[in-house]
Amino acid sequence: MLKEKVVSARRIAEVVATLGQEISADMEGRDPVFICILKGAVYFFTALTQHLSRSVVVDFIQVSSYGATTETSGTVILVKDITVDISGKDVYLVEDIVDTGLTLEDVIALLKARHPRSVQVVALLSKPSRRKVDVTVDFVGLEIEDRFVVGFGLDFAEQFRNLPDIWEFAP
Ligand code: IMP
Repeated sequence: MLKEKVVSARRIAEVVATLGQEISADMEGRDPVFICILKGAVYFFTALTQHLSRSVVVDFIQVSSYGATTETSGTVILVKDITVDISGKDVYLVEDIVDTGLTLEDVIALLKARHPRSVQVVALLSKPSRRKVDVTVDFVGLEIEDRFVVGFGLDFAEQFRNLPDIWEFAP
C-alpha cells in the first residue's frame, strides 16, 4: 500500500535538471556512453539524458537480483547485456536507487572487464544507511532514509513503476 509521497514529480524534475547540468560539465573532454540499468532506471534515464548538453551514446543492461520481496538477494544475474563497445569510453552508469550497493558492485565489475576509460555512477536516489559495500556514487540526486519506495521507475513486484511521484510503500 502507498503510505506517503516522498518525492513529488515536480521535485524529481528539478533534481534531474540539476544533475543534467552537473554531468554536462563533467562530460567535457570525454567520450561518453550512458548505460541504463533496466528496468527501474528507465524513467530517470530518459529524463536525464534529455538534459545533457550534447549528443551521447545510450545503451541498456538488465540484471536481476530481487524477486517479489523488498530485500536484495546479493546475487546478480545478467539478463540483458549492452550492445555497444565501451572500450576506451567514459561510461556513466545510471541507476534508480543505491541501497546495499551489491547490484552496482557487480555491474561495475562486469563493465570494467570491457576496458572502458572510466566508469562513473549516477543515481537518482541513495539510501546511505543501508550500504553493505563501499561503492562510489559520483552523482546523487537525493539521499533518503531507510524506507522502501516505489514510483518513477521503482517497483514492488513489478507494480507502480509508472507513478509520476515517488511514494513510500508498505507491503
Ligand atoms: P542494492 O543492490 O541493494 O543496492 O539494490 C539496488 C536495486 O534494488 C535497485 O536498482 C532497485 O531495483 C532495488 N531497490 C532498492 N531499494 C529499493 C526501493 O526502496 N524501492 C524499489 N526498489 C529498490
